[in-house]
Amino acid sequence: MLLHIPQVLTPEELRTVRATIDAGTWIDGKRTAGTQAVQAKNNEQLSQTSEEARATQAVITRALNRNATFFSAALPKRLYPPQFNRYGGDSNHYGNHVDGAVMYVKGTGERVRSDVSCTLFLADPADYDGGELVIEDTYGNPRIKLAAGDMVLYPSTSVHRVEPVTRGQRLASFFWVESMVRSDEQRRLLYEMDMALLQLRNEHGETDSAVRLSGTYHNLLRMWADT
Ligand code: NI
Repeated sequence: MLLHIPQVLTPEELRTVRATIDAGTWIDGKRTAGTQAVQAKNNEQLSQTSEEARATQAVITRALNRNATFFSAALPKRLYPPQFNRYGGDSNHYGNHVDGAVMYVKGTGERVRSDVSCTLFLADPADYDGGELVIEDTYGNPRIKLAAGDMVLYPSTSVHRVEPVTRGQRLASFFWVESMVRSDEQRRLLYEMDMALLQLRNEHGETDSAVRLSGTYHNLLRMWADT
């Protein structure tokens, strides 16, 4: 499932994040790429252990924690701490690749299985050309370029790339979610059911059938969730 979640960050959070990371130390993105990705990767990343990265991770984690759509779609069990990348000038693209299945958190060595990949856009699309996130899917190859503060979620199993940035700078935060529900198909079903239930409640209130359907949602989650 590919999902666009608008306005994950408030305008004020976005300003704080931008001011902090703009002042940070950026390094060659190849230093954090695996053997397959290193060939394709040509961007810059904010030093993972820098004070700027830590401060900004806290802002983004807080924003995710209050976002019901993110919770419903990703059913997060563990989160890889948000990272930051920058594309522009000579470091302007990331060719086709698949994200590693198991990510190791720097410093703690904690393992996070990547089930859901997330990209949170941090630059105004009017400020740069190119830089679309292209996700190869059996339904087609959507080209994604979102407003600053918006986020896209997609299955980590997808081949994807970032197109060359030909003007300005593309800034984004990216991270992975290990989900309580490993299967993309099951997560999608639960998400759609949850959204339909929300609508049912808005339209008809807490009816007997809404209660029963909520029960079915939770019983499916109980069957599939690994906490
Ligand atoms: Ni990737």
